Amino acid sequence: MAHDLAAVAGDDLAMAYRRLNAAYQQTLRYAEDVRRLYQQVQRSIYQSLLGLANALEAKDPYTRGHSERVGTWSRLTAVALGLARAEAETIGRAGLLHDIGKIGVPEAVLQKRDRLAPDEWTQMQRHPLVGAQIVAPFEFFAAGAITIRHHHERLDGSGYPDGLEGPAIPLGARIVAVADVYDALTSDRPYRAALTHAAAVEQLHAEAGRRLDAEVVVVFLETMRELQEETRRVGARAALSGTAGAPAR
Ligand SMILES: [Fe+2]
Repeated sequence: MAHDLAAVAGDDLAMAYRRLNAAYQQTLRYAEDVRRLYQQVQRSIYQSLLGLANALEAKDPYTRGHSERVGTWSRLTAVALGLARAEAETIGRAGLLHDIGKIGVPEAVLQKRDRLAPDEWTQMQRHPLVGAQIVAPFEFFAAGAITIRHHHERLDGSGYPDGLEGPAIPLGARIVAVADVYDALTSDRPYRAALTHAAAVEQLHAEAGRRLDAEVVVVFLETMRELQEETRRVGARAALSGTAGAPAR
């Protein structure tokens, strides 16, 4: 009799365990669905923000491709500095969206060839704040909003909007600043022609430790060198396989 009771109790226990395990597996599946959905929502939001950044580049032809280059170089530099993948990804996205606040700056100011008047300069200097406000509703991008806000801060405190100094400037913002300055120097602007890579490197070295983070400058230039080598290798391979110069379709 006691033996039968024990057998029944054992069966109940086994069944309860199976149910518990099934419920646990179901919870895991739900969690995975939620995670995937969350990532999908994040991607859609980034796509919308990217649309805004593209709209900005259409407004200001001198910055065409600038956001994409600064985004890519910032991400690669963050990786080369040893940051975790997710952190580097956020810095890359912040680099992509760093000037999104310029959407609020009139075209006449963005494209002006002459020196900006004080009130125009004030309008221009608001763009990091406006940009941070645009992305602020997205909690998952809080670090990105901070990077956008501070991408014009300079080590010596001469930057804006908060005049932060040295290590008080978030690392992501120090990275985006270097990529941004390099791309600005090597691009045509309404007020001057593009500098050569060598001249831009010289300027970055001159600013390293003064207005730009010295370690970031070194790692950024190393990353650029590797990228250029890679481009040369790919170009050489394409030439060898006879695909170089094929018309784009
Ligand atoms: Fe900017």
